[in-house]
Amino acid sequence: MIVSGSTSQALAAELAAETDHDLAPVAFDRFPDGELMAQVPYLEGNEAVVVASTVSSDAHVELLQLQDAAREAGAETVTTVLPYMGYGRQDEAFEPGQPVSARAVARAISTGTDRVVTVDPHETAVLDYFDVEARAVEAAGRLANPLPSDLTEPVFLSPDEGAVVLAETVADAYDRGTTDYFEKTRLSGSEVEIEPHDVAVDGRDAVLVDDIIATGSTMSEAVSVLDDQGAARVFVTCVHPLLANNAVTKLARAGVEAVYGTDTIERSVSAVSAAPAVADAL
Ligand code: R5P
Repeated sequence: MIVSGSTSQALAAELAAETDHDLAPVAFDRFPDGELMAQVPYLEGNEAVVVASTVSSDAHVELLQLQDAAREAGAETVTTVLPYMGYGRQDEAFEPGQPVSARAVARAISTGTDRVVTVDPHETAVLDYFDVEARAVEAAGRLANPLPSDLTEPVFLSPDEGAVVLAETVADAYDRGTTDYFEKTRLSGSEVEIEPHDVAVDGRDAVLVDDIIATGSTMSEAVSVLDDQGAARVFVTCVHPLLANNAVTKLARAGVEAVYGTDTIERSVSAVSAAPAVADAL
């Protein structure tokens, strides 16, 4: 049965339909002191697939509880689907004294599962931090689906060179257009200057592609630059639409045409599902 965390209910339902599995009953409660109680009242069969994006510290605890509750309900095998792996971007100690948070959470998650499937992690190296079999699937290609079919000389851009493979994936899926990435120059702690590395964007439709939009600073800066350089329309796409704080407003103020993400994080912009990619890995 598919056991859905509170953060991944739409994706879990899609996955259940995709794999012809049933959804297990789940219940979520909170004690007066704020502690969580995630329950799996019963489970049919002896296999559980727990689906939960760890978008917050509470979501991390909820996932650990669901893994444990699934075992209590009789699961002999627990697969954990981590559509979005929170803390994944702190994949090394960038300064002395910092934790490798991705390793810390991966170890904790490993204790309650037999294997892990995640979607487009920030760095695939985080898979090595799990103590059980862990694999990543790719959902970025689906981001081409909601784009209008009439894009003018489309250029697919990533905000940095590291993410250009995602831009190439979406361009391939769209089956038309060129790819490029931004050169980022840090001017100060809070200011960055970015410009397309190679191609001219004047009069063209631009599609920005990244793994995650968190505060929206990177993407809104990129939208503004493309606008200044005469791009016709600018679309923003990402696998994980975290959209923290005022990210949506920042993007709107920058003049974005539309924002599209997947349902690894369930937001109003989650236009496509990662379920088919996850289903292939189960
Ligand atoms: C960084 O390497 C990531 O790929 C994203 O570009 C970054 O996390 C986005 O963060 P924000 O939306 O806060 O600028």
